[in-house]
Amino acid sequence: MQNEREVSGFYSQIRDYWIALGSKGSAPPTMMLNFGYWPQGVEHLYEAQQSLVRRVVECIAPCPDGALGVEVGCGIGGISINVLQQLPHVRMTGVDISEDQLEIARANAQARGVQDRFHAQQGDSMALPLPSNAFDFGLCIESSFHYDNKPLFFSELFRALRPGSTAVVADITCSRVDGVQFRKGNYFESPATYHQLIRDTGFELVSSEDIGPVVYAPLYQHIQNFNAGQRNRDRIAKYWSLVLNNYRELASEGDMGYYIFTLKKPDAPALNN
Ligand SMILES: C[S@@+](CC[C@H](N)C(=O)[O-])C[C@H]1O[C@@H](n2cnc3c(N)ncnc32)[C@H](O)[C@@H]1O
Repeated sequence: MQNEREVSGFYSQIRDYWIALGSKGSAPPTMMLNFGYWPQGVEHLYEAQQSLVRRVVECIAPCPDGALGVEVGCGIGGISINVLQQLPHVRMTGVDISEDQLEIARANAQARGVQDRFHAQQGDSMALPLPSNAFDFGLCIESSFHYDNKPLFFSELFRALRPGSTAVVADITCSRVDGVQFRKGNYFESPATYHQLIRDTGFELVSSEDIGPVVYAPLYQHIQNFNAGQRNRDRIAKYWSLVLNNYRELASEGDMGYYIFTLKKPDAPALNN
Protein backbone atom coordinates (compact mmCIF):
# COMPACT_ATOMS: atom_id res chain seq x y z
CA MET A 1 0.00 0.00 0.00
CA GLN A 2 1.03 3.56 -0.70
CA ASN A 3 2.66 5.52 2.06
CA GLU A 4 0.81 8.78 2.58
CA ARG A 5 3.73 10.46 4.31
CA GLU A 6 6.10 9.54 1.48
CA VAL A 7 3.78 10.91 -1.24
CA SER A 8 2.96 14.10 0.73
CA GLY A 9 6.65 14.62 1.46
CA PHE A 10 7.55 14.32 -2.23
CA TYR A 11 4.89 16.85 -3.30
CA SER A 12 5.80 19.28 -0.52
CA GLN A 13 9.32 19.36 -1.97
CA ILE A 14 8.44 19.72 -5.65
CA ARG A 15 5.07 21.54 -5.64
CA ASP A 16 6.34 25.14 -5.61
CA TYR A 17 8.79 24.48 -8.44
CA TRP A 18 6.10 22.83 -10.51
CA ILE A 19 3.59 25.65 -9.89
CA ALA A 20 6.22 28.23 -10.92
CA LEU A 21 7.06 26.16 -14.02
CA GLY A 22 3.40 25.97 -15.06
CA SER A 23 2.43 29.57 -14.31
CA LYS A 24 2.57 32.22 -16.98
CA GLY A 25 2.98 35.98 -16.67
CA SER A 26 0.10 37.71 -14.93
CA ALA A 27 -2.32 34.78 -15.37
CA PRO A 28 -3.37 33.14 -12.07
CA PRO A 29 -0.92 30.43 -10.97
CA THR A 30 -1.50 26.97 -12.36
CA MET A 31 -3.57 24.57 -10.26
CA MET A 32 -2.22 21.52 -12.06
CA LEU A 33 0.79 19.33 -11.43
CA ASN A 34 0.99 17.37 -14.66
CA PHE A 35 3.17 17.31 -17.79
CA GLY A 36 0.47 18.71 -20.08
CA TYR A 37 -0.27 18.01 -23.74
CA TRP A 38 1.90 19.94 -26.22
CA PRO A 39 0.41 19.88 -29.72
CA GLN A 40 1.94 22.18 -32.35
CA GLY A 41 1.96 25.83 -31.29
CA VAL A 42 1.95 25.18 -27.52
CA GLU A 43 5.11 26.65 -26.00
CA HIS A 44 4.38 26.93 -22.31
CA LEU A 45 3.38 24.35 -19.69
CA TYR A 46 0.43 26.57 -18.72
CA GLU A 47 -1.13 26.13 -22.18
CA ALA A 48 -0.08 22.48 -22.35
CA GLN A 49 -2.00 21.76 -19.14
CA GLN A 50 -5.04 23.61 -20.48
CA SER A 51 -4.90 21.52 -23.68
CA LEU A 52 -4.67 18.34 -21.63
CA VAL A 53 -7.87 19.23 -19.73
CA ARG A 54 -9.64 20.09 -22.99
CA ARG A 55 -8.62 16.69 -24.40
CA VAL A 56 -9.88 14.95 -21.24
CA VAL A 57 -13.23 16.77 -21.38
CA GLU A 58 -13.61 15.70 -25.04
CA CYS A 59 -13.21 12.09 -23.90
CA ILE A 60 -16.04 12.30 -21.34
CA ALA A 61 -18.43 14.21 -23.63
CA PRO A 62 -21.39 14.28 -23.82
CA CYS A 63 -21.67 14.82 -20.09
CA PRO A 64 -25.29 15.15 -18.92
CA ASP A 65 -26.41 18.06 -16.72
CA GLY A 66 -26.21 17.19 -13.05
CA ALA A 67 -23.56 14.51 -13.61
CA LEU A 68 -21.36 13.58 -10.66
CA GLY A 69 -17.69 12.97 -11.46
CA VAL A 70 -14.81 11.62 -9.44
CA GLU A 71 -11.14 12.46 -9.92
CA VAL A 72 -8.68 10.06 -8.32
CA GLY A 73 -5.34 11.69 -7.45
CA CYS A 74 -6.73 15.21 -7.88
CA GLY A 75 -3.66 16.94 -6.43
CA ILE A 76 -4.19 20.68 -5.95
CA GLY A 77 -7.46 20.50 -7.85
CA GLY A 78 -6.75 21.98 -11.27
CA ILE A 79 -8.21 19.22 -13.45
CA SER A 80 -11.46 19.02 -11.46
CA ILE A 81 -11.76 22.81 -11.23
CA ASN A 82 -11.27 23.23 -14.98
CA VAL A 83 -13.86 20.53 -15.64
CA LEU A 84 -16.28 22.37 -13.32
CA GLN A 85 -15.59 25.64 -15.14
CA GLN A 86 -16.17 24.04 -18.55
CA LEU A 87 -19.23 22.05 -17.45
CA PRO A 88 -21.27 24.32 -15.17
CA HIS A 89 -23.91 21.71 -14.24
CA VAL A 90 -21.47 19.04 -13.11
CA ARG A 91 -20.25 18.25 -9.55
CA MET A 92 -16.91 16.65 -8.74
CA THR A 93 -15.40 14.68 -5.88
CA GLY A 94 -11.61 14.86 -5.81
CA VAL A 95 -9.75 12.13 -3.94
CA ASP A 96 -6.09 12.37 -3.01
CA ILE A 97 -3.90 10.52 -0.55
CA SER A 98 -2.26 13.76 0.56
CA GLU A 99 -4.23 16.05 2.87
CA ASP A 100 -1.72 18.85 2.10
CA GLN A 101 -2.60 18.68 -1.59
CA LEU A 102 -6.33 18.67 -0.78
CA GLU A 103 -6.06 21.75 1.43
CA ILE A 104 -4.66 23.66 -1.55
CA ALA A 105 -7.31 22.12 -3.83
CA ARG A 106 -10.08 23.41 -1.54
CA ALA A 107 -8.54 26.90 -1.52
CA ASN A 108 -8.18 26.81 -5.33
CA ALA A 109 -11.83 25.77 -5.74
CA GLN A 110 -12.86 28.63 -3.45
CA ALA A 111 -10.72 31.12 -5.40
CA ARG A 112 -12.40 30.03 -8.67
CA GLY A 113 -15.91 30.12 -7.14
CA VAL A 114 -16.65 26.40 -7.70
CA GLN A 115 -16.38 25.31 -4.05
CA ASP A 116 -20.09 24.41 -3.87
CA ARG A 117 -19.64 21.83 -6.63
CA PHE A 118 -16.29 20.41 -5.45
CA HIS A 119 -15.83 17.95 -2.62
CA ALA A 120 -12.25 17.06 -1.64
CA GLN A 121 -11.90 13.70 0.09
CA GLN A 122 -8.72 12.23 1.54
CA GLY A 123 -8.20 8.61 0.54
CA ASP A 124 -6.12 6.02 -1.22
CA SER A 125 -6.84 5.18 -4.85
CA MET A 126 -6.49 1.50 -3.98
CA ALA A 127 -9.16 1.63 -1.24
CA LEU A 128 -11.43 4.45 -2.37
CA PRO A 129 -13.53 5.92 0.46
CA LEU A 130 -16.48 6.15 -1.92
CA PRO A 131 -19.83 4.43 -2.37
CA SER A 132 -20.36 1.88 -5.16
CA ASN A 133 -22.12 2.67 -8.46
CA ALA A 134 -22.23 6.35 -7.50
CA PHE A 135 -20.36 8.35 -10.18
CA ASP A 136 -21.27 9.22 -13.77
CA PHE A 137 -17.66 9.63 -14.91
CA GLY A 138 -14.17 9.12 -13.53
CA LEU A 139 -10.81 10.77 -14.11
CA CYS A 140 -7.29 9.88 -13.06
CA ILE A 141 -4.67 12.13 -14.59
CA GLU A 142 -0.98 11.44 -14.04
CA SER A 143 -1.46 9.79 -10.69
CA SER A 144 -1.67 6.04 -11.37
CA PHE A 145 2.10 5.81 -11.93
CA HIS A 146 2.34 6.18 -8.14
CA TYR A 147 0.11 3.17 -7.43
CA ASP A 148 1.89 -0.03 -6.51
CA ASN A 149 -1.26 -2.13 -6.95
CA LYS A 150 -2.93 -1.09 -10.20
CA PRO A 151 -5.39 -4.03 -10.33
CA LEU A 152 -6.80 -2.78 -7.01
CA PHE A 153 -7.01 0.79 -8.33
CA PHE A 154 -8.88 -0.28 -11.47
CA SER A 155 -11.28 -2.46 -9.50
CA GLU A 156 -11.95 0.37 -7.06
CA LEU A 157 -12.60 2.77 -9.94
CA PHE A 158 -14.92 0.21 -11.55
CA ARG A 159 -16.81 -0.25 -8.28
CA ALA A 160 -17.33 3.50 -7.74
CA LEU A 161 -18.67 4.15 -11.28
CA ARG A 162 -22.25 3.65 -12.41
CA PRO A 163 -22.80 1.09 -15.19
CA GLY A 164 -22.51 2.79 -18.59
CA SER A 165 -20.16 5.53 -17.38
CA THR A 166 -16.87 6.65 -18.88
CA ALA A 167 -13.48 7.07 -17.25
CA VAL A 168 -10.28 8.68 -18.50
CA VAL A 169 -6.96 7.50 -17.16
CA ALA A 170 -3.95 9.42 -18.48
CA ASP A 171 -0.42 8.52 -17.49
CA ILE A 172 3.24 7.95 -18.14
CA THR A 173 3.87 4.45 -19.48
CA CYS A 174 7.19 2.65 -19.70
CA SER A 175 8.20 -0.58 -21.39
CA ARG A 176 11.82 -0.55 -20.11
CA VAL A 177 11.67 0.37 -16.45
CA ASP A 178 15.36 -0.47 -15.92
CA GLY A 179 16.14 2.57 -18.11
CA VAL A 180 14.43 4.94 -15.63
CA GLN A 181 17.00 6.76 -13.49
CA PHE A 182 14.80 7.85 -10.55
CA ARG A 183 12.40 5.06 -9.64
CA LYS A 184 11.48 5.70 -6.00
CA GLY A 185 7.68 6.03 -5.65
CA ASN A 186 7.12 5.38 -9.37
CA TYR A 187 5.46 2.16 -10.54
CA PHE A 188 5.49 2.57 -14.32
CA GLU A 189 3.78 -0.01 -16.49
CA SER A 190 3.75 -0.62 -20.23
CA PRO A 191 0.74 0.33 -22.37
CA ALA A 192 0.13 -3.40 -22.95
CA THR A 193 -0.11 -3.99 -19.18
CA TYR A 194 -2.56 -1.08 -18.82
CA HIS A 195 -4.69 -2.52 -21.65
CA GLN A 196 -4.71 -5.93 -19.99
CA LEU A 197 -5.57 -4.51 -16.55
CA ILE A 198 -8.37 -2.38 -17.97
CA ARG A 199 -9.97 -5.38 -19.70
CA ASP A 200 -9.34 -7.79 -16.81
CA THR A 201 -11.24 -5.39 -14.52
CA GLY A 202 -14.28 -5.56 -16.78
CA PHE A 203 -13.96 -2.17 -18.49
CA GLU A 204 -14.31 -1.77 -22.25
CA LEU A 205 -11.30 0.02 -23.72
CA VAL A 206 -12.90 2.74 -25.86
CA SER A 207 -9.65 4.37 -27.00
CA SER A 208 -5.96 4.46 -26.25
CA GLU A 209 -3.86 7.36 -27.52
CA ASP A 210 -0.14 7.96 -27.02
CA ILE A 211 0.60 11.69 -26.77
CA GLY A 212 4.17 10.98 -25.52
CA PRO A 213 5.79 12.19 -28.75
CA VAL A 214 4.33 15.65 -28.02
CA VAL A 215 5.00 15.68 -24.28
CA TYR A 216 8.55 14.84 -23.27
CA ALA A 217 10.72 16.77 -25.75
CA PRO A 218 8.84 20.12 -25.45
CA LEU A 219 8.51 19.78 -21.67
CA TYR A 220 12.24 19.12 -21.36
CA GLN A 221 12.96 22.25 -23.44
CA HIS A 222 10.52 24.27 -21.31
CA ILE A 223 12.32 23.13 -18.13
CA GLN A 224 15.71 24.03 -19.60
CA ASN A 225 14.49 27.54 -20.53
CA PHE A 226 12.83 28.02 -17.16
CA ASN A 227 15.89 26.84 -15.20
CA ALA A 228 18.21 29.07 -17.25
CA GLY A 229 16.18 32.06 -16.06
CA GLN A 230 16.55 31.15 -12.36
CA ARG A 231 19.36 32.90 -10.50
CA ASN A 232 19.69 30.20 -7.85
CA ARG A 233 19.17 26.96 -9.62
CA ASP A 234 18.36 24.60 -6.76
CA ARG A 235 18.45 20.82 -6.48
CA ILE A 236 14.75 20.54 -7.44
CA ALA A 237 15.36 22.37 -10.72
CA LYS A 238 18.33 20.10 -11.45
CA TYR A 239 16.30 17.02 -10.48
CA TRP A 240 13.55 17.82 -13.02
CA SER A 241 16.06 18.61 -15.72
CA LEU A 242 17.64 15.16 -15.21
CA VAL A 243 14.26 13.40 -14.98
CA LEU A 244 12.89 14.93 -18.19
CA ASN A 245 16.15 14.36 -20.04
CA ASN A 246 15.89 10.68 -19.10
CA TYR A 247 12.19 10.53 -20.10
CA ARG A 248 12.69 12.26 -23.45
CA GLU A 249 15.50 9.82 -24.28
CA LEU A 250 13.33 6.84 -23.34
CA ALA A 251 10.46 8.31 -25.37
CA SER A 252 12.69 8.85 -28.41
CA GLU A 253 13.66 5.15 -28.22
CA GLY A 254 9.98 4.17 -28.04
CA ASP A 255 10.27 2.97 -24.42
CA MET A 256 8.22 5.69 -22.75
CA GLY A 257 4.78 6.99 -23.65
CA TYR A 258 2.09 9.21 -22.20
CA TYR A 259 -1.23 7.51 -22.75
CA ILE A 260 -4.79 8.70 -22.55
CA PHE A 261 -7.00 5.65 -22.00
CA THR A 262 -10.77 6.07 -22.31
CA LEU A 263 -12.71 3.30 -20.59
CA LYS A 264 -16.35 2.38 -20.28
CA LYS A 265 -18.02 0.42 -17.52
CA PRO A 266 -20.49 -1.77 -19.41
CA ASP A 267 -24.19 -1.02 -19.12
CA ALA A 268 -26.08 -3.07 -16.57
CA PRO A 269 -27.70 -6.13 -18.18
CA ALA A 270 -31.38 -5.61 -18.99
CA LEU A 271 -33.77 -7.28 -16.53
CA ASN A 272 -35.85 -10.09 -18.04
CA ASN A 273 -39.53 -10.28 -17.27
C1 LIG B 1 1.37 14.35 -10.56
S1 LIG B 1 0.11 14.72 -9.37
C2 LIG B 1 -1.28 14.97 -10.48
C3 LIG B 1 -2.37 15.76 -9.83
C4 LIG B 1 -3.55 16.12 -10.75
N1 LIG B 1 -4.20 14.96 -11.28
C5 LIG B 1 -3.11 17.01 -11.86
O1 LIG B 1 -3.11 16.57 -13.03
O2 LIG B 1 -2.78 18.17 -11.58
C6 LIG B 1 -0.24 13.10 -8.67
C7 LIG B 1 -1.18 13.13 -7.47
O3 LIG B 1 -1.51 11.78 -7.11
C8 LIG B 1 -1.62 11.69 -5.69
N2 LIG B 1 -1.45 10.30 -5.26
C9 LIG B 1 -0.33 9.55 -5.27
N3 LIG B 1 -0.59 8.32 -4.80
C10 LIG B 1 -1.91 8.29 -4.49
C11 LIG B 1 -2.79 7.28 -3.99
N4 LIG B 1 -2.33 6.06 -3.68
N5 LIG B 1 -4.08 7.58 -3.82
C12 LIG B 1 -4.56 8.83 -4.13
N6 LIG B 1 -3.78 9.82 -4.61
C13 LIG B 1 -2.47 9.55 -4.80
C14 LIG B 1 -0.51 12.62 -5.20
O4 LIG B 1 -0.70 13.01 -3.86
C15 LIG B 1 -0.60 13.77 -6.20
O5 LIG B 1 -1.45 14.78 -5.73
